Amino acid sequence: MQGSLATRVPTTRRYLMCPPRFFAVDYVINPWMDPTQPVSADVAVAQWTELRDTYRRLGHTVEEIEPQPGLPDMVFAANSGTVVDGRVLGSRFRAPQRAAEAEHFRRWFVEHGYRDITMPEKINEAEGDFAWTGALLLAGTGFRTDPAAHAEAQEALGVPVVSLQLVDPRYYHLDTALFVLAEATDSTRAQIVYYPEAFSAGSRRVLERVFPDAVLATKEDAECFGLNGVSDGRNVVLPVEATRLGELLSARGYEPVYVDISELRKAGGGPKCCTLEIRKG
Ligand code: ARG
Repeated sequence: MQGSLATRVPTTRRYLMCPPRFFAVDYVINPWMDPTQPVSADVAVAQWTELRDTYRRLGHTVEEIEPQPGLPDMVFAANSGTVVDGRVLGSRFRAPQRAAEAEHFRRWFVEHGYRDITMPEKINEAEGDFAWTGALLLAGTGFRTDPAAHAEAQEALGVPVVSLQLVDPRYYHLDTALFVLAEATDSTRAQIVYYPEAFSAGSRRVLERVFPDAVLATKEDAECFGLNGVSDGRNVVLPVEATRLGELLSARGYEPVYVDISELRKAGGGPKCCTLEIRKG
């Protein structure tokens, strides 16, 4: 059902997050990062805490992994695992500066009782480039995740993968250009929002074909990291600047919940980047 009359039903989620105690912008691996700009780990921790508490207030469970010195981007937990039905596909980073994060997260999953864990052979930046719709795993490539990792994900997780080509370096991960608003087990009924210009012409046609009712975002929505939202099916956590998108989603029956992520955005991240979803199945 479309429009404001739809009753959006939230489902409780389980998230894994990493406090940004060692947050910094020391290197440049995406166009948002500028090491000459001052950044504050304290401000990042405060914003991150607000995000974590927002999830808890919405009824979600948040688990935390210990941050590590020398891994300033470890706060972006979404890049370290894709979990569907309790199966864990770990990550393999493109940038050597982030490589060690993958093992810390793998260990976290082992220590927390996860038994079905696959570590990828190909470059795979996890939920940065993978979005689960309830039926399909949308998979981005072009800047980070290797297209061969899409086939690996299909095999490891046992879910159908739809590959999408990203073309704008500012939207280097799928989760900077698209997110799932409402999951559905029927592949055509999930609702998503995306910024079409971030995708190749062919991938745009794929998205139009599979999701004819998708919400289409604008440049303005994308530039403030509005496409890095986190939805529980009703409440949609968005950067505080993403009010245009928030209003569009309100009209569709969703509830925007705004958070300030300005410090984290200096590293090219937003709410979703900080949030690895554990789908237990
Ligand atoms: N500085 C990090 C990088 O470039 C930011 C990662 C953001 N994460 C995300 N899921 N988009 O890798």
